[in-house]
Amino acid sequence: MNLRTFTLGMLTTFGFAWVFAVVLPFFKTRELTPVYFNEVADGKTDMYFPKRTGQVVNGAKVYAQNGCYVCHTQVVRPTYAGNDIHRDGWAGFKLDPDRGDTRRETNVFDYMGEDFAQIGVMRIGEDLSNVGSRYEKLAIDHNTKQKEALGDAWNDTMKVTPQELLYEHLDNPRKVLSMRWSTCPSFHFMFEDKKHASSHPIPKPEARSLVAYLLSMKKNDAVPASMNYSPVKPAQK
Ligand code: HEC
Repeated sequence: MNLRTFTLGMLTTFGFAWVFAVVLPFFKTRELTPVYFNEVADGKTDMYFPKRTGQVVNGAKVYAQNGCYVCHTQVVRPTYAGNDIHRDGWAGFKLDPDRGDTRRETNVFDYMGEDFAQIGVMRIGEDLSNVGSRYEKLAIDHNTKQKEALGDAWNDTMKVTPQELLYEHLDNPRKVLSMRWSTCPSFHFMFEDKKHASSHPIPKPEARSLVAYLLSMKKNDAVPASMNYSPVKPAQK
C-alpha cells in the first residue's frame, strides 16, 4: 500500500461516517418545518406546538451545569432501536386515567425552548423525558396510600407535592432505606442548611428552577398522526 491509497482509504472510511452521522442529520433537523394535524386522522387542523410550562431555560442551565446529562438521557427511542415505549412511565403511561394511552417516541420539537437538546451521554439513571408526569403520579399514589393508612387521622396538610418529592431526591437520593443503593449524587448545596419544621429541605433558587424544569418534562402531548409512532397510533387515511 502506498501513501496515496492509504490516504484515500482513510478519507473514504471517515468521510462516509461523517456524511451519515453529521452532515445528513444536520441538514435534516436544521430547519424544522411546522407539522400540521390532519383533519381525518387527528380530528383537528392546527399546527402542532409542544406544550411546556416551567422555568425551562433557567432549569436547563442548572441541569447542564451539574452534569445531569452524563447519567440521564432525554430521549424515548424508536422501538426498532430499543424497548423504551414499553417501560411504563418512560414514554408516557399505558393507562393514563384521563387520556388512556399517552406513550410516544421523542420528536425534535420536544427540545424547543432549550439552547441544547440534552439527549444525554449515558443512561446510568432513568430516562427523564417524562420525569414530570412520573413524579406527579408518584405524589398522587403516595397521598392515596397515606390517606388509606391513616384514615381519620389524615388531613390535607399532610399532602406531598411532586416538587417536594423532587427536592427530597435531589437533597439526598439515599434518604429512604430502599434507595440506599442509589448512585444519583446528592445536590445538597442547592438547599439551605436548615430544614422546614416538617423536615422538608428548603430549596435555593437553582433547585427551584431545576425542579420547575424537571416537572416541565412531560413529553406525552398528542402529536399529529404523521409523526406519531406510538403503539396506539390513530389509523392514517
Ligand atoms: C453519576 C450518575 C448520575 C448523575 C450525574 C445524576 N444522576 Fe440522577 N440518577 C442516577 C441513578 C443511578 C438514578 C436511579 C436511582 C435513584 O432513583 O436514586 C437516578 C435517579 C434520578 C431521579 C429519579 C428518577 C425517577 O424517575 O425515579 C431523578 C429525578 C434524578 N436522578 C435527577 C437528577 C438530576 C436533576 C441530576 C443533575 C442535577 C442528576 N440526577 C444527576 C444517576 C445520576
